[in-house]
Amino acid sequence: MKQALEEKIRNRKARVGIVGLGYVGLPLAVEFAKAGFEVVGIDLSESKVAKVNAGDCYIADIQARVFEPLVNSGKLRATTDFGAITELDTVNICVPTPLRKTKDPDMSYIISACQQIAKFFHKGMLVILESTTYPGTTAEVVLPMLEDEGIKVGRDFFLCFSPERVDPGNPKYQTANIPKVVGGCTPACTDVGALFYSQALEKVVPVSSTQVAEMVKLLENTFRMINIGLANEIAMMCGRMNINVWEVIEAAATKPFGFMPFYPGPGLGGHCIPIDPFYLSWKTKQAGIEARFIELAGHINGQMPMFVVDKVQNALNDRGKPLKGSRIHILGVAYKKDIDDVRESPALDIIQLLERRGAKLTYSDPYVPHLRFDAKELCSDEDSMAQADCVVIVTDHTGFDYTALMEKAPLIVDTRNALKGVVSDKIVRL
Ligand SMILES: NC(=O)c1ccc[n+]([C@@H]2O[C@H](COP(=O)([O-])OP(=O)(O)OC[C@H]3O[C@@H](n4cnc5c(N)ncnc54)[C@H](O)[C@@H]3O)[C@@H](O)[C@H]2O)c1
Repeated sequence: MKQALEEKIRNRKARVGIVGLGYVGLPLAVEFAKAGFEVVGIDLSESKVAKVNAGDCYIADIQARVFEPLVNSGKLRATTDFGAITELDTVNICVPTPLRKTKDPDMSYIISACQQIAKFFHKGMLVILESTTYPGTTAEVVLPMLEDEGIKVGRDFFLCFSPERVDPGNPKYQTANIPKVVGGCTPACTDVGALFYSQALEKVVPVSSTQVAEMVKLLENTFRMINIGLANEIAMMCGRMNINVWEVIEAAATKPFGFMPFYPGPGLGGHCIPIDPFYLSWKTKQAGIEARFIELAGHINGQMPMFVVDKVQNALNDRGKPLKGSRIHILGVAYKKDIDDVRESPALDIIQLLERRGAKLTYSDPYVPHLRFDAKELCSDEDSMAQADCVVIVTDHTGFDYTALMEKAPLIVDTRNALKGVVSDKIVRL
């Protein structure tokens, strides 16, 4: 089985399936199609499937001139029908892994995808889980759904975990040139997984088990979350002492060793940093270990939207204006610059908190024309900025006209240091 599959992979005859065509799955599908494989994307969303098949790419990091020819040539297609798996040799699972309200892992997407895969699964296949999850998921949750007495992992099929590290909006590092860690249930699984990725991606890093590979991703994201928490706490301290935290970090970053800059901000956002560390703390709690750094950083990062709202209120009060009734314009609502993703965006919390204190809210974001949350819908309205009593920069998109902003706005709360180097009484920095 192993040799036969490896041969199909080497000569690009393996038929590749990607389950979940989102920010992770679609770029991966494109890389394998570009490498010469026939790729089928499987997603529950009929609209995403229709868009892919029409050559209409909805992920900003993928260029239309790359995408369209892959679809037109039949190298890349999509379906909602899991029955396609019958014809496939490999399947990568890239479905969401959110948190429940209680901050416990929501495994329902992985389980439901695996139930569907299990229906059409056959000998000789390679299955790779890519969704970020707690250590043990591949061996404890996915493996029992695929293996039985007649079909044994490492012999009849191959199962791996490979964390996805894609960073949407990053022009330098994208799916193809981010090293790919992969760990299998058995050494044979790791071999096949590593061979598979090496066909389409620049560098593969094999590790000894699925648990190691799962933990790699959680270490990376926990490292980031905790360091952002430290930067946020330093920002709060600096705020009290009237010190410019941005200048402090910039100067500290000149140290050529032993320091890596992380920056404060209005709060964590996105589908990874605010969520993934809680997959780890949930799992370690079961082993009797409290993940104290994660809890602490989660607490500090969670205070940032309120910290921003207090800054806005204090800045208005200092100018003799109450927050209640004031017009506040939120500039940028995506969770980070130059992307359209608002999942977990701190802008949502900031808008709600300001509204609760009686402010009148508008926003503008060229990447997010409509903002739907909590049963309400706001529309991006750049013109309303001119009437605002205060503009809050929540996302520092590169395309914003900061010079025009300086002219128009009577007061600016800058949570991203977007106005770095600009000296004005109008600006209140984090
Ligand atoms: N977005 C990122 O920057 C990023 C980076 C690294 C890792 N990850 C991880 O990758 C995983 C996927 O994230 P994403 O951002 O691509 O999510 P996404 O929401 O953009 O895409 C997930 C896709 O899966 C589909 N889907 C859901 N359930 C399905 C099912 N049962 N069968 C088939 N399709 C199904 C959805 O319709 C959606 O198109 C998550 O675990 C996430 O934590 C995301």
